[in-house]
Amino acid sequence: MAKNKIQPKPVKITETVLRDAHQSLIATRMTTEDMLPIVEKLDDIGYHSLEAWGGATFDSCLRFLKEDPWERLRKIKAKAKKTPLQMLFRGQNILGYSHYADDVVQYFVQASIANGIDILRIFDALNDIRNLEAAINATKEYCAKEGRGHVQATVCYTTSEFHTNEKFVELAKQLEKMGADSICIKDMAGLLRPYVTYDLVKKMKEAVKIPIQLHTHYTSGEASMVYLKAIEAGVDVIDCAMSPLAMGTSQPATEPMVAALQDTEYDTGYDLNKLIEIRDYFEPLRQKYLESGLMNTKVMGVDVNTLKYQVPGGMLSNLVSQLKQMNAEDKYAEVLKEVPRVRADLGYPPLVTPSSQIVGTQAVFNVIMGERYKNVTKEVKGIVRGEYGRCPGEISDEIVKKVIGDEKRITCRPADLIEPQLDKLRKECAQYIRQDEDVLSYALFPKQAEDFFKYREAALDKVDNTLVDRENKVYPV
Ligand code: CO
Repeated sequence: MAKNKIQPKPVKITETVLRDAHQSLIATRMTTEDMLPIVEKLDDIGYHSLEAWGGATFDSCLRFLKEDPWERLRKIKAKAKKTPLQMLFRGQNILGYSHYADDVVQYFVQASIANGIDILRIFDALNDIRNLEAAINATKEYCAKEGRGHVQATVCYTTSEFHTNEKFVELAKQLEKMGADSICIKDMAGLLRPYVTYDLVKKMKEAVKIPIQLHTHYTSGEASMVYLKAIEAGVDVIDCAMSPLAMGTSQPATEPMVAALQDTEYDTGYDLNKLIEIRDYFEPLRQKYLESGLMNTKVMGVDVNTLKYQVPGGMLSNLVSQLKQMNAEDKYAEVLKEVPRVRADLGYPPLVTPSSQIVGTQAVFNVIMGERYKNVTKEVKGIVRGEYGRCPGEISDEIVKKVIGDEKRITCRPADLIEPQLDKLRKECAQYIRQDEDVLSYALFPKQAEDFFKYREAALDKVDNTLVDRENKVYPV
């Protein structure tokens, strides 16, 4: 009887194969050439969005792949005409590792939207909402101007004596008030457990009106259980990756999630046969990455250590390579144990870029030097001074003294102390500029961008190539 029929509530999926999946499994090395032939088929699935840009992809394009990240975005956009494109944006850090002035943040946001981004997922590593203000406001402004797009504000999930589901819900309410169009619960290290997730999503759904999206990683082996409980609690969107680049330190696989929900009230409605065609495209690429050594079996299994040490997947491989360089691989277990101690000393920041690298590097120093904080990185000093924002917990007087001595700590929004930067940057890289966006590449990664610009000059001369033009205008700031 129609009356008794359960109201369908289709779950939507964001496909991460073009961003987080390869960032997690192959150090962000998928090339635009490997992406483009399949974008139209991905566009045809009906996904909520395609996560295709941001995070580490920008850095990797310039540093390793000798690609223009803006050009990649325009080429993907030209083929993905129906599905919104999504990027990951590190608040005041943009796509870099430290704070930038507001004028750079604003210009980056508008250039991202003009080049094809529809949804900006904006987060701050410390969950300090002051660090999200500039990016959120700029996104709202330029989305309105272009007549498309959406601010997704992020709650970085972590566990500590300072973090409870109630506090995360409070944060989501604040983000909604700041103008977010949706909330992402970002579980970068795969720390969520199924029943905690149910409680968190249920409470958040009751507290905010905007849609809730869940992002997790399979690192600890719980991710598909986490998604199922989140779905039962009413989550609107989940992040998945096509199976050849799923699981391990990446996301749960798309196809089994779609299959699991078929013929239920949560049915995504996506065509499994079409997904299999996409899988068939990525499967040989997976083999290629395995054979070249880019894909390491170490990141493909289950590691419950992540629950104990809270170390996200990308950070694990960083620690291993740092120790290798120092000929101290035998210290790995000791460093892993030092990570949560450093995190506690610094007021329990969630471990996500850049806090994960900062805590990890200091943990390595503390172990290698044989004395804690004998050698302190400039970034740890920055955290203690307050230059990254407010940490969730307190930093003890003893640690403050040890790290910065009698130096003053700041309590304002860190970017309030940064003068506008764009004019100076434009002058510095003027000789290389071929498109308005080049100054932004230079702002974030001056050395890598300059190397890339030189490489591009040579390549453009050789093949008489011209850059693909953006569809939308970039307004002067
Ligand atoms: Co992620």
